Formats: sequence, C-alpha cells, structure tokens
Amino acid sequence: MTNEDNGERNGNDFADHVYQPAEDSALLADAACEGIDAGQRVLDVGTGSGYVAARAAETGARVVGSDFNPHACQQARENDVEVVRTDLVSGFAECVFDVVTFNPPYLPTKPEERSDDWMERALSGGETGRAVVTPFVDAVSRVLRSGGVVFVLVSSLTGLDEVEARARKAGFETEEVAEESHFFERLVVLKLVAAGDPDRPRPP
Ligand SMILES: C[S@@+](CC[C@H](N)C(=O)[O-])C[C@H]1O[C@@H](n2cnc3c(N)ncnc32)[C@H](O)[C@@H]1O
Repeated sequence: MTNEDNGERNGNDFADHVYQPAEDSALLADAACEGIDAGQRVLDVGTGSGYVAARAAETGARVVGSDFNPHACQQARENDVEVVRTDLVSGFAECVFDVVTFNPPYLPTKPEERSDDWMERALSGGETGRAVVTPFVDAVSRVLRSGGVVFVLVSSLTGLDEVEARARKAGFETEEVAEESHFFERLVVLKLVAAGDPDRPRPP
C-alpha cells in the first residue's frame, strides 16, 4: 500500500488524521509475519491505516484491528481490515488471541509541545514516551491465550530497558527480534512471550 493509496480515498483525506505506514510499521509487520502461523487469531492494536493487520492477514491468520481513532477505523475498513473501535485491548474478551501486534505512539513530548488532535495522539508517548506502551503491556496478557505472543515496536527514545522491565514484571519473557538504526533513534521489535503452555486448547 502506498501513502497515496491510503491517504486519499473517496475524497477522504485520511493522511491528515491517520498515521500512514512508515519504517516502523514495516519493521513491525516484517518481524510479526515471521512469527504468525496460518489460522492463528491475531489482534493489531492501534491499527491506523490497517497496514500491519493486512500484512498479518497475508499469512493466512484471522486478523482483527483496533484503534480509538474513528478515522483510522474507517481507513482500515476501507483496506479490508475488520476493526473494533476501542481503547487498547479493552473491547476484547479474555484469552482469545494467539498473537497481538502494536506499533504504539512512542515519541517523548513535553506538555507545551502537544496539540489535541488524532495525529498527535498517534505519535506522542507523553513525557517519557511510554504513556501508552506501559498500560498496553500491563493489560495485554488478559486477551492472550496461554503461551501467546506480543510483537511491540519500541524506539530507543522510548527507553527499551524500561519497557522490557515492565514486560517482565507483567509476566512475559522478552526478546529483541528485529532492529533498524535511523539518524536519531534505533527502532526495535520486542517479542513478549506469555507464560503458559502454547499447546493448551483455547476457549471456544
Ligand atoms: C504510530 S501509529 C501506528 C499505526 C499503524 N499500526 C502503523 O504501524 O502504521 C499508533 C496508532 O495507535 C493508535 N492509538 C494510540 N493510542 C491508542 C489507544 N489508547 N487505544 C487504541 N489505539 C490507540 C493511534 O490512533 C494510531 O493509529
């Protein structure tokens, strides 16, 4: 998908309100697709345009996206991604997903730098950069099956050690599975593995 395809469809200029796929989206999608099997249930949190969800669906997985931005939900639907409008994972039942992906807002921003619009909320991770990723890490195990896996994008600007420490506190084993260096940051995909038996049958 190109930015042009995603940003301007049917006269709806999504690019003003929805984060369009960039290097971080591609790094996350590439890493996650390596770890997804056909038939698995996948949730792409903060799906934006639906790019990561659509890439995950190419593996043969059953994929749903979520976002709290209504413009993102609309664009993802136009890209054939099933979407639920909700805050992080709160709209989903327990233990239903094999894999969860998330490219969160991660840029550290000072209060005086912030504006109250959807693009800002797609990018800003508050003063630490972890204002969204921390509650995500704390909440995500509820929707994962036993032994389920999370792929989450983290920037060196966000504090990789702090995110890994938080994930371990939430009961995950952590591993860096992809990385890419840019001029002012290093992007990393963390794989978080939930405790438990991956072969245990999930609830119907
Ligand atoms: C950096 S963008 C990533 C978009 C897309 N996944 C990608 O990789 O191109 C972050 C996305 O998370 C969404 N988001 C931020 N906070 C959220 C929250 N609390 N609940 C649901 N979605 C959220 C934003 O609306 C935005 O679409």
